[in-house]
Amino acid sequence: MTKVSPSVLASDLSNLASEVKEIELAGADMVHLDVMDGMFVSNMSFGMPIIEALRNKSDIIFDVHLMIAAPERYASRFIDAGADILTFHYEACEDSAALLDEIHNRGIKAAISIKPKTPASAIFHLLEKCDMVLVMTVEPGYGGQSFMYDMLPKVRELRAEIERRGLDIDIQVDGGINPETAKAAREAGANVLVAGSSVFKSCDRKAAIDALR
Ligand code: DX5
Ligand code: ZN
Repeated sequence: MTKVSPSVLASDLSNLASEVKEIELAGADMVHLDVMDGMFVSNMSFGMPIIEALRNKSDIIFDVHLMIAAPERYASRFIDAGADILTFHYEACEDSAALLDEIHNRGIKAAISIKPKTPASAIFHLLEKCDMVLVMTVEPGYGGQSFMYDMLPKVRELRAEIERRGLDIDIQVDGGINPETAKAAREAGANVLVAGSSVFKSCDRKAAIDALR
């Protein structure tokens, strides 16, 4: 079953709590929270205080996507703030295996993400430690970009390797997801779809979420 994780980056950030409530009621499986530090990516968003404030307002699964340099410095504080799934970038971390272990030791789900230029094989040695892998389908940093169809072979390659090893790992795609690209991503083996613009810029969010599945 395909899961949908709307990214609040495209929501009305001045009404974040009600935006999250709305997608929760519209049947979203989780909410995607994009953390950017102006270092790993050339944009900034929000950090732990906002996530912590939001935690008191919603019980939906918090799918936190760290686009920050040296994520090991802050992982524990994002878990304190209320993350249920913590994703960090392979390219940003010195010891990804250790960080995946640290996240698991805190009792939440751990995921690793790769940027468009990073091959799937770069994280093959980490698969056994992952609950989810995130294949970026745009360059991280901004919402509203176009889906990179040339990332689909990477999704297929990861799905094949996960199946070959008999593992149970979600594959998430993030960037430029709309009903058309969602279909292509699902067919390639992705089962968790992040969508910012296509959900939050739609006036019927339930229909927008359903259309992705
Ligand atoms: C991009 C972020 C995405 C972004 C997706 O760096 O990781 O989560 O919000 O936005 P859309 O769906 O508009 O491409
Ligand atoms: Zn994201």
